[in-house]
Amino acid sequence: QQGERTRLVEAHKVAAKFYAEQLDGAEAEIGRAFLAGRGFDQAAARHFGVGYSPAGWDHLTRFLRGRGFTDKELILSGLSQDGRRGPIDRFRGRLMWPIRDITGDVVGFGARKLRDDDNGPKYLNTPETPIYRKSHVLYGIDLAKKDIAKGNRAVVVEGYTDVMACHLAGVTTAIATCGTAFGGEHVKILRRLLMDNSRAKVIFTFDGDAAGQRAALRAFEDDQKFAAHTNIAVSPGGMDPCDLRLDKGDDAVRQLIEESTPLFEFALRSVVARHDVDTPEGQAAALEEAAPIVAHIKDSSIRHQYAVRLAGLLGILDTQFVVMRVGQL
Ligand code: CTP
Ligand code: MN
Ligand code: MN
Ligand code: MN
Ligand code: MN
Repeated sequence: QQGERTRLVEAHKVAAKFYAEQLDGAEAEIGRAFLAGRGFDQAAARHFGVGYSPAGWDHLTRFLRGRGFTDKELILSGLSQDGRRGPIDRFRGRLMWPIRDITGDVVGFGARKLRDDDNGPKYLNTPETPIYRKSHVLYGIDLAKKDIAKGNRAVVVEGYTDVMACHLAGVTTAIATCGTAFGGEHVKILRRLLMDNSRAKVIFTFDGDAAGQRAALRAFEDDQKFAAHTNIAVSPGGMDPCDLRLDKGDDAVRQLIEESTPLFEFALRSVVARHDVDTPEGQAAALEEAAPIVAHIKDSSIRHQYAVRLAGLLGILDTQFVVMRVGQL
């Protein structure tokens, strides 16, 4: 119901301000050092509303109670969780990224641990709540939406620090999923912003691991129109945009995005790279793996062009054979 959403959004607004103020305290030195080490100065931290959650058990919980929020609301919001003697803070001793919806309301947090001896995962996110569904949120969408619509282009990166790095490097269309794979609901959000469908482009960057790349292919199996507008950018040495910016600077981040490869071309190249196509056996094995990818392309003209392209990548002179093999699937 509407009243509940308003309360939970209000709690998040107060929490975001609380965390941001904590980032200036003595305890948060480790958080400021982390940011500095990633190439983010104070202005950058402020622009993205980055904060720090104190290490005690219930600092935020008590603060929010003092602002009139009930224990029930605190648990429902995901900001607190059940402890042995009532609600305790969910996020403790972590760097905090407020996650905003497209209208700019804070609906959740992404939280990174700062100490090696901390237990728990490296990143902890808000659980599913009435205002936070991870399959529906895109970190940075509030900042990026205007430029995404204006340029008919979106850049999907993997992490919070990557979104920050991209924006600071001038790639202001960068967004990220929050602790989940890019999926159908994320496509829907982007579709609404990418008005000119014929020119729309969505560029994915991955750390270079195969898991992320497979996820991109899967996400677009059911949405071919979108796949045709999807490009992949893999940075040298598996560096993510944040590492790349640190190592090579803003220009390298922009260049990474400019030099992206169409999704299907990228998929075929990765298959070919896994085989020794100097031998007939390697050619045949690569063909068997790559042909289904091409066969999945619904547009017959594009499918044919990619079959021809595949023959070229495999070094198979008998192009017609590859076209036929794809056609049989
Ligand atoms: N992530 C997550 N839970 C984890 C690890 C990662 O939810 N245990 C999500 C986070 O949203 C994170 C993104 O995946 O921002 C990217 O993760 P990864 O590439 O592992 O992060 P790094 O780039 O190694 O993280 P950092 O630069 O902060 O060390
Ligand atoms: Mn700004
Ligand atoms: Mn990774
Ligand atoms: Mn990464
Ligand atoms: Mn990183």
